[in-house]
Amino acid sequence: MTGQVKIFDTTLRDGEQSPGCSMNMQEKLEVARRLELLRADVIEAGFAASSPGDFASVSAVAAAVKSCVVASLARCCRGDIDAAYAAIKGAAAPRIHVFIATSPVHMEYKLRMPPEKVLEQAAEMVRYAKSLCPDVEFSCEDATRSDPAFLAKIVRAAIASGANVINIPDTVGYTTPPEMRALIEQLRSEVPECEGIELSVHCHNDLGMATANTLAGILGGARQVECTINGLGERAGNAPMEEVVMAIKTRPEVYNVHTGIDTTQIYRASKAVYGIIGRTVSLNKPIVGTNAFAHEAGIHQHGVLANRSTYEIMTPESIGIPSNQIVLGKHSGRHAFEEKLSSMGFALSQEETERAFTEFKELCDKKKDITDRDIEFLVWNLTPAGSSGGYSLKGFSVHTGSNEAATAVITLEKDGVVTEDVALGNGPVDAAYKAVDKIVNPPGFQFENYVIQSVSEGKDSLGEVITTLRHDGKTFSGKGLSTDVIEASILSYIYALNRLLEYARSREEK
Ligand code: KIV
Ligand code: ZN
Repeated sequence: MTGQVKIFDTTLRDGEQSPGCSMNMQEKLEVARRLELLRADVIEAGFAASSPGDFASVSAVAAAVKSCVVASLARCCRGDIDAAYAAIKGAAAPRIHVFIATSPVHMEYKLRMPPEKVLEQAAEMVRYAKSLCPDVEFSCEDATRSDPAFLAKIVRAAIASGANVINIPDTVGYTTPPEMRALIEQLRSEVPECEGIELSVHCHNDLGMATANTLAGILGGARQVECTINGLGERAGNAPMEEVVMAIKTRPEVYNVHTGIDTTQIYRASKAVYGIIGRTVSLNKPIVGTNAFAHEAGIHQHGVLANRSTYEIMTPESIGIPSNQIVLGKHSGRHAFEEKLSSMGFALSQEETERAFTEFKELCDKKKDITDRDIEFLVWNLTPAGSSGGYSLKGFSVHTGSNEAATAVITLEKDGVVTEDVALGNGPVDAAYKAVDKIVNPPGFQFENYVIQSVSEGKDSLGEVITTLRHDGKTFSGKGLSTDVIEASILSYIYALNRLLEYARSREEK
């Protein structure tokens, strides 16, 4: 089979609903912009009926995105479908995505509905969605644990009611590649109407097989795949877009299909999403992990130097990994800097460009050679919301030694008011965080994680710190970047606190 496989990205819906991955509207818009640069076919912007905040974000993404279909998820009920349609109707290409569970365990214990009723409701709600929007996708939740005969029946009914995309989710990451392929093939042979619509798969990664199952779905005839950047998603996550896309690109003789994705945007999209949710990539993550293209063993290095294809099945350039070449320095002017930003896919406001340029110049004073990596980290440190609203760091000083408690003096600004405080602590980071607490007086939380790593090379390299806090069952992460790791630590803490305070405020307003 040949043809194009459409990429349906659900980072903003399935990805965002996973623990520690929540994003504010500005952050969702940045992810949507990255998805447009990637040339994803469909962006699932959220679940409009789930909260007023989700509704507003789906509407904002629908208004901003010009070149992708924008979908909102909805259960099979009028209220959800109305909310989904109201949120996406302004999009250049809107889609309503309705779903209902079809497995015996979900129908009996979750829906408390007999199969005939599920079938009837699915058909009626697909018809209703179609009366509002010409593009309707129908998903059979937990399809891979459903009775195949019932699945065929409900798929037939959904197509007859107007669904133009049928999605087969492996909701709990239960299936295997041969089973997924057989399921799609069986549906195509038992429901010939499938030939006139698009079949889709949506795989979760509970047994580490989301990518393999997605690719098997393609071999079975699926022509849309649902995935997320970095594989974010419920529990163990969804199929990572970068893995599915690069497998298709690297093994055309196996899959015999192509996608419309601009693979050179993969690395930046991955970094942007990690930056937004305040997480670091694991070293050995396929495609986008720090070590994905690193060759440590001497024999490998020798092979790669002789001919890259000895140990590299894809090139770092094909996913847009920036070279670590020196690109700019102390004498580079604003024009060269702005050109560099735009060639790297950053679209900053004038005010952000101004700040980025000032920070670039400051970095040039601390670090001799500036690489693409330094620039991208510098920009990610500026954006997104951590820098807008909330507290910002005006200054700090720490004093520490082997036989004395550390002391930190911190100066923060919020809404034009500058406050300074001092604290003692068990080390400079502890002292600094205590001084920040005295100023901010945050609601109770636990420290979940503190990660520190270097992001570029050399003694003067930038240090990145991610601080994660837990409050009210939710996690809030902040990222700080500086050649000074104490400053990076303070910045990351303030950013995490700003997110926590924004959340606490929104709860109070409810
Ligand atoms: O995993 C799943 O079943 C889903 C559906 C709602 C599409 O996310
Ligand atoms: Zn899912």
